[in-house]
Amino acid sequence: MANKDNLIDGKAIAEQIHAETREEIERLARVGTRPGLVFVRVGDDPASQVYVGMKEKMCRRLGIHTETHALPASASEAELLSLIDRLNRDETFHGILVQAPLPKGIDASKVYSAIRPEKDVDGFHPINMGKLLLGDPSGFAPCTPAGIVELLVRSGIEIRGKEAVILGRGNIVGKPMAALLMQKAPRADATVTVCHSRTRNIAAHCRRADILIAAMGVARFVKADMVKEGAVVVDVGVNRVDDPQAQRGYRLVGDVDFEAVRPKAARITPNPGGVGPMTIAMLMKNTVRAAQALARR
Ligand code: GUN
Repeated sequence: MANKDNLIDGKAIAEQIHAETREEIERLARVGTRPGLVFVRVGDDPASQVYVGMKEKMCRRLGIHTETHALPASASEAELLSLIDRLNRDETFHGILVQAPLPKGIDASKVYSAIRPEKDVDGFHPINMGKLLLGDPSGFAPCTPAGIVELLVRSGIEIRGKEAVILGRGNIVGKPMAALLMQKAPRADATVTVCHSRTRNIAAHCRRADILIAAMGVARFVKADMVKEGAVVVDVGVNRVDDPQAQRGYRLVGDVDFEAVRPKAARITPNPGGVGPMTIAMLMKNTVRAAQALARR
């Protein structure tokens, strides 16, 4: 059944959130606080350069004070930890974001544990991960899964009691996504299945999903015959595929075979223009929350 208007407009919903964030920024300005977010990038991963550039640009658009530290790939773990220590104490920055992935030889869990939890707007610190699992809303939830919950809620999609199937168990998306959706809470209460590389018969799990979230990083993995008629499909993937016609020799595709799946889905995120803008919107929102907490002290 073709469905013409079934797109979930991530860009438009992200703009709603930015408008709310901007109001908070104006309120903070009246009490003399300007939110600040500092980025740390290590090495020259081209995708990371693009992502940090987009986040920086959004900070400037919203009036968030921002700065980027770009360390060479040869930077040591000790150098990175010493920079984080300095930024932890710098009161002009309420949020610190160390862009993943980090070069081999740097222990990412050590790095994320070194960020002050109150400044960990990425939600990767063990304290924030623990609060997320416990359902304690005082922590920060990772931006991509938190953004997906916002997408669903603001699109009028009921989560409670639904079968949610997540493809991928990574620390940035899959695992925190499962924690958010299984929460005993109004914007959650789903029955969650997490599939991964060792799952047998992934297609059968997918076909049970009322809400299917693809975040395993395999280009166009989710085919039409893996999707139940009327399911909600969220595509988190960003995969490079060779394309001799494209100027750069490649193009980006999601984890969902979008054109084939779209007619079966009740609602589906485009990619790009679905989850990506939401990740940035939640990051800005978390930064303003971090600044508000400091302004209250
Ligand atoms: N790399 C891919 N996604 C993310 C994210 O949400 N935060 C950071 N810091 N790095 C990422």
